[in-house]
Amino acid sequence: MYQQLNGKTKINVHDLNLWYGEKQALFSVSMNIMEKEVTAFIGPSGCGKSTFLRTLNRMNDLIDGVKISGDITINDENIYKSNDVIKLRTKVGMVFQKANLFPMSIYDNVAYGPRGQGIKNKKELNQIVEESLRGAAIWDEVKDRLKTSALGLSGGQQQRICIARAIAMKPDVILMDEPTSALDPISTLKVEELITQMKENYTIVIVTHNMQQAARVSDKTAFFLNGEIIEYDETDLIFSRPRDKRTEDYITGRFG
Ligand SMILES: Nc1ncnc2c1ncn2[C@@H]1O[C@H](COP(=O)(O)OP(=O)(O)OP(=O)(O)O)[C@@H](O)[C@H]1O
Ligand SMILES: [Mg+2]
Repeated sequence: MYQQLNGKTKINVHDLNLWYGEKQALFSVSMNIMEKEVTAFIGPSGCGKSTFLRTLNRMNDLIDGVKISGDITINDENIYKSNDVIKLRTKVGMVFQKANLFPMSIYDNVAYGPRGQGIKNKKELNQIVEESLRGAAIWDEVKDRLKTSALGLSGGQQQRICIARAIAMKPDVILMDEPTSALDPISTLKVEELITQMKENYTIVIVTHNMQQAARVSDKTAFFLNGEIIEYDETDLIFSRPRDKRTEDYITGRFG
């Protein structure tokens, strides 16, 4: 049974279980993730947040010995029944904890995905790069140095280039795994503002250890513990009136 939450469902997860070899890491996870909202996953280290996030674009397929049961439907398509994983990862982009830019220019980093999709026209690429950098709120900072190495940027700038690189693929959904944990407070706020702007156009799922961040940026919050969802609700409710004692203990810092 799903709890009825406001919004239009973008991703439906039904009875999802995941094992790493013999070890089960996710236990019957079911939830609806809403379109053009920010959904936060919180919970103590090792509770399965990243594992679950990675199931949403089949990144766990790359790990040996992973077994998955259950269903995930995105845009009415069961992603584990379709074989087009490349298309899935185009539609469901990902931003990681550490900026993972390629050792090439800012421009080439952002153009990398579109070029891989066969876009060669220079004008078209220029436009995608500019739009993506604008979309990631970093255009003004880098427009005069597009041909210089992306690795010469600050950590916070690099993380926004990673977001631009994801946007360049024209995704519907962007998954972010602790995207600000390596950033200073000012860069963190910039990325948070960016996330808030981005939800006009994208469905965003973010893993965070920072409770204030979850409260600031997300519409819905799911609390995970030992591979299960303990509570999933409007963020305001999770942080003001959690229904489960374990959620309350976690958000008030009593454990985790
Ligand atoms: N590649 C892997 N092989 C085997 N076990 C794994 C693998 N990745 C994660 N696990 C295990 O699955 C469980 C969930 O891990 P996961 O990384 O999803 O937790 P998390 O909630 O993201 O933690 P953190 O907050 O520390 O990032 C843990 O017990 C972890 O040890
Ligand atoms: Mg993690």
